[in-house]
Amino acid sequence: MYQVWLILHSWGRWFVLGAGLLAVFRAYGGWQGRRPFTKGDNGISAAFSGFMWLQVIVGLGLYFGLSPWGLNGLKQYGMKDPTARFFGVEHIAVMIIAAILAQVGRIALKRAPSDTLKHKKAFIYFSIALLLVLLMIPWGIWNPARPAFRF
Ligand code: HEM
Repeated sequence: MYQVWLILHSWGRWFVLGAGLLAVFRAYGGWQGRRPFTKGDNGISAAFSGFMWLQVIVGLGLYFGLSPWGLNGLKQYGMKDPTARFFGVEHIAVMIIAAILAQVGRIALKRAPSDTLKHKKAFIYFSIALLLVLLMIPWGIWNPARPAFRF
């Protein structure tokens, strides 16, 4: 069960990043080019926010039991251990803030009175959310225990 959840969470990052990058690029182009806000723009922004919440749900399963990190890591190693602190506090806190930011962005763009403003709001909220996600993914480039593609 743990392995399945971990694989889902690992692959989930690529869906979040793919949708996030597309959403940010489309929003920027739409804002600068004063392009109409289309169904496609709405769809990709919904996908970005939706994939983030899916990651949060799978992450909660890891955090509250399945993973040796999360709460288990905090109990075993305490806050002084950098890995325990990362997964026990920093990763969860910043990722939840990022998911909320993407959600607030969705609400803000729906309320915006013009299409250009919709794109602008989407760009601002989504680029900050995406940046936080990029910063808080444990990339593990030098760490074989955290591969980019887990099977
Ligand atoms: C957009 C949001 C998120 C992204 C992109 C993300 C991404 C990742 C990635 C790429 C890993 C490494 C997985 C691996 O080693 O293969 C990871 C690990 C982990 N994540 Fe997240 N995460 C997100 C949100 C969350 C949230 C909200 C929680 C907690 C509620 C969470 C809990 C964990 C835990 C506990 C681990 C360590 C798993 C282990 O090695 O046992 N994640 N996350």
